[in-house]
Amino acid sequence: MRTQVAIVGAGPSGLLLGQLLSLQGIDNVIIERKSGDYVLSRIRAGVLEQGMVAMLEDARVAQRLHRDGLVHDGFSLAFDGRRHRIDLKGLTGGKTVTVYGQTEVTHDLMAARAAIGATTIYEADDVALHDFDGQSPRITFVKDGVSHAIECDFIAGCDGFHGVSRRSLPDGAVREFERIYPFGWLGLLADVPPAAHELVYASSDRGFALCSMRSMTRSRYYVQVSLEEKVEDWSDQRFFDELRRRLPADVAEAVTTGASIEKSIAPLRSFVAEPMRFGRLFLAGDAAHIVPPTGAKGLNLAASDIHYLSQGLIEHYRDKSDAGLDAYSNRALARIWKAERFSWWMTSLLHHFPANTPFEQRMQRAEFDYIATSPIGSTGVAENYVGLPY
Ligand code: FAD
Ligand code: DHB
Repeated sequence: MRTQVAIVGAGPSGLLLGQLLSLQGIDNVIIERKSGDYVLSRIRAGVLEQGMVAMLEDARVAQRLHRDGLVHDGFSLAFDGRRHRIDLKGLTGGKTVTVYGQTEVTHDLMAARAAIGATTIYEADDVALHDFDGQSPRITFVKDGVSHAIECDFIAGCDGFHGVSRRSLPDGAVREFERIYPFGWLGLLADVPPAAHELVYASSDRGFALCSMRSMTRSRYYVQVSLEEKVEDWSDQRFFDELRRRLPADVAEAVTTGASIEKSIAPLRSFVAEPMRFGRLFLAGDAAHIVPPTGAKGLNLAASDIHYLSQGLIEHYRDKSDAGLDAYSNRALARIWKAERFSWWMTSLLHHFPANTPFEQRMQRAEFDYIATSPIGSTGVAENYVGLPY
């Protein structure tokens, strides 16, 4: 088989790239390790920046998003029971975010891909990348026990943090930067109305908690837990009791409890691989970087990478110019590092760090007080949360 762009991974990055290329008549094949149902069963991000919404519009997959997504003008930060609203719209000259689950984005992109008739190979085993340092890259894989090869012009490594693309690079080709946080997030999804109309990020002496949602009848909650915790030890009752203890009193009272649909623990990590290109292989999304989820940036960064990469590939085929591809890594990384900073900062502000001294705890409180009392402090938070320009 031959294609122009072979895409490894059918997460949001791979599917969005495939859709944008297909709309320009650029042939592409997606190779995914798991089944489509499995990809759709993963409960992950929920907040879309305006730039990502615009990209989904360009990709012609925003119809359901505009019907079912919830536009949010603000969110709250809470510290030891005190609450401060960040007026996203007022502080950014009218920008907002949209609450619409990653599962739904993925669903919409898969449906569009099926409608266009582009090829996705699910449940591909032993995916391997070859010759991407030369002119004729190739991907091999095994499907239903049979070996296959795809020849292509370019490979897009959109296969997440644990994927094969980044690991295929020769030793020393990338420099990796990493911070591992000494805690994780335990998330719970339930069909109950959300405790508040907007998201609440809360810091308390018992640790961090987040009230989010997927719709006005489906809530998504998170609590910070130590890395030793096991999901099995957290009954729904225990989760809701702990959540309420960490929230300001009025929000805690408004929490409606209900049976969980999903419960899982995710570790928190900051990670960047530089550069994001090696020959004809381009890394995008979680394959190249991870942010702790506190700033709601992971999915949005995957989209901005795809913005730069799709532009580069389209220019290559349409204008016979490689300027966009040559600039891809630097352009993407400039935005990634700013989102890494914001996510690290928001994580540092709101979590209980076991090793923090009383001085550092006072610094966290002073930081919150500054934001809560300074329009300039609040504006910085708002500007980053709605997403920096592409
Ligand atoms: P992924 O979504 O990881 O997609 C990669 C795809 O590649 C997967 O489908 C995978 O099966 C496939 N793949 C992997 N290896 C191979 C291989 N060898 N061959 C072929 N295919 C392969 N972000 C937020 O903003 N908020 C959140 O609350 C949040 N929660 C998260 C919870 C978890 C458990 C995780 C892991 C991430 C979370 N994120 C969150 C981050 C966000 O979901 C990611 O940034 C986003 O999914 C990145 O999309 P992606 O397409 O780059 O990677
Ligand atoms: C959600 C996840 C986040 O990491 C975040 O910052 C906001 C919302 C969510 O899953 O809804």
